[in-house]
Amino acid sequence: MDGLLFNPIEINSLKLPNRFVRAATNEYMTDDEDYVTDRQAALYEELARGGVGLIVTGHSYVRKDGKASKRQAAIYDDTFVPAYKRLLERLKPYDARVMLQITHGGRQTKPEICGTTPIGPSPVTDKSTGITPRGMTHEDILDIINCFGLAAGRAREAGFDGIQIHAAHGYLLSEFLSAYTNRRNDEWGGTIENRARVVVKVLRACRLRAGSDYPVFVKLQTDDGIEGGLGIEEAAEIAKILDKEGIDAIETSGGIVESFPFACRTDIDTPEKEGFFISNAAKIKKAVSVPLVAVGGIRSIGVMESIIKDKRADLISMSRPFIREPDLVERLRKGLATKAACISCNQCWHPDGIRCAQVSNTSS
Ligand SMILES: Cc1cc2nc3c(=O)[nH]c(=O)nc-3n(C[C@H](O)[C@H](O)[C@H](O)COP(=O)(O)O)c2cc1C
Repeated sequence: MDGLLFNPIEINSLKLPNRFVRAATNEYMTDDEDYVTDRQAALYEELARGGVGLIVTGHSYVRKDGKASKRQAAIYDDTFVPAYKRLLERLKPYDARVMLQITHGGRQTKPEICGTTPIGPSPVTDKSTGITPRGMTHEDILDIINCFGLAAGRAREAGFDGIQIHAAHGYLLSEFLSAYTNRRNDEWGGTIENRARVVVKVLRACRLRAGSDYPVFVKLQTDDGIEGGLGIEEAAEIAKILDKEGIDAIETSGGIVESFPFACRTDIDTPEKEGFFISNAAKIKKAVSVPLVAVGGIRSIGVMESIIKDKRADLISMSRPFIREPDLVERLRKGLATKAACISCNQCWHPDGIRCAQVSNTSS
């Protein structure tokens, strides 16, 4: 295996041993109060042992009403820090770096999950649930920004190597970016600059609380997959704004719950179907100066190498393949496999913990 995928890379103070990223994946494995568990720690240890360079956690919610699913990890309070510390302690012997993905679920949740009426930039009914969120006040927005900052400070205190701001997949920050869900006509809506303002302020709050040397990535929405939603041209403008603001790297994704499975497409059985957001990644890469992380249906080593070689992205991120094969990177490195065994069937979601339905010997 030549260097491309196994070359180290330095991003801000983050030193990664190779170009592989375990994409943020909600494991649905926390305890009843949303503290991370030993089961998650064991899964992360398996991933680290399996050679992945960067592990991004599942999305961890920064305020109580930002909870999007049961058994989702939380970071809205200092009390969550010790459990994360214990998890990270187990990963110390390995080269893998770990980032906490921080999120607020916005309108893509339900009162029985988040404990109240879901919130959003505007009261636009979610067609997947029929729920109309409460439109946020200016004060709500300022509080959420502060909560993201506090979460970043906690991530650093816990020992994470950085954070990833979740601004994709139709959750709160992504809702602000899109004219489909953001119908405001104040400073938080309308122009692209106004719609991006909340993410810019979140980035600044994270820098303030966690320090300017602390690596901050963003997972950026590049296509809602819905009529009237955000598309790549606007996303490229947002990426430029974040680049100018000093974001350290951008992971390009797309899709919202209403357009599912746009974010997690099925039947990726040929190289041509792989990398379904790769053209968006390449467009954003051309627009910015920071490293680009490509995600979405990347499966075979030939495709991975060509992405890096053609400078369409700098890192390769995968979610579902690591659920089936936590040791995928080692298998590729040793030449034991040339592609992921994952068949992208989307049967890995499970309320009691992710698992691969294709193999009996799962990690759950
Ligand atoms: C079970 C599951 C949970 C996921 N949880 C998250 C999450 O917490 N945050 C996020 O940004 N993306 C999440 N994703 C999306 C993945 O990070 C990724 O963008 C998507 O699965 C496409 O990549 P893949 O084809 O390699 O699976 C999840 C995907 C799956 C399958």
